[in-house]
Amino acid sequence: MKMTPMAQNCGVEISGIQLASCSDTEIDAIKQAIYENGVAVFRGQEFSPEDHIAFAKRWGGIDINNYFPLEDEYPEIAIVRKAADQETNIGGAWHTDHSYDQIPAMGSILVARTLPPKGGDTLFAHMGAAYDALPDELKQEIDGLEAFHTADHVYKADGLYAQTDMGKELRGQDLKTGAVHPVVIRHPVTGRKLLYVNGGFTINFVGQTREESLPLLQKLLAAAVREDNQCRVEWQPGTVAIWDNRTTWHNALNDYPGHAREMHRITLSGEALAA
Ligand code: OGA
Ligand code: MN
Repeated sequence: MKMTPMAQNCGVEISGIQLASCSDTEIDAIKQAIYENGVAVFRGQEFSPEDHIAFAKRWGGIDINNYFPLEDEYPEIAIVRKAADQETNIGGAWHTDHSYDQIPAMGSILVARTLPPKGGDTLFAHMGAAYDALPDELKQEIDGLEAFHTADHVYKADGLYAQTDMGKELRGQDLKTGAVHPVVIRHPVTGRKLLYVNGGFTINFVGQTREESLPLLQKLLAAAVREDNQCRVEWQPGTVAIWDNRTTWHNALNDYPGHAREMHRITLSGEALAA
């Protein structure tokens, strides 16, 4: 097994391994690499839906996504799909998965099933690097702050997706979600300080209205996705990416009009987050 950094501050490519048959020692090293680097990319994987589920179970529990269509035969697998004639994609803005849950998902395992001829890359940004690079006065300003996260404005019946051609694909439009997390968390395993607000689901700081929160929120969001915190995953047939939703955010590029793209996602259960 060989690990090669993908960029200065984010991501690692891991070669010389088949995820479907890796040993316990190898999986421990893979987990640690993902906790630290935020995302790991594996090429040339033979990874059936059964392999996907069995591998996910080696991390712990599986969180079933509330909104995406599920694979008929394998309800643990959420389908992240854009049809050739669709305009909107899933995940096409900076976000982290499930931060609207009080016990947010630890990570996601995404498998490329149908790819456009080119485009459809996914960007990742490292929230430890993002925190470290904040100016000291900004670090002081956010020390002890908490923020409210929800997905309601995105997925509910009159939400963002419902107004697009993605709307009819989605489930869960009458759900209510909401969670409060510290703005700076400690990674549960590495202990590293991570910025934990995101553009998709973070609405306001606790004790402040949305309007009062926006200037600071926008400052943090801009700092978080600076290019030197980022890496880019270019998908190929057989590519699997596994990311840590605490260490990174991601953004699925929507630059392949007229072509279909379909990915299979299993979301890994996490734990409550603390400052
Ligand atoms: C996701 C997501 C990214 C992609 O599955 O959570 O944001 O590249 N997908 O499809
Ligand atoms: Mn996502």
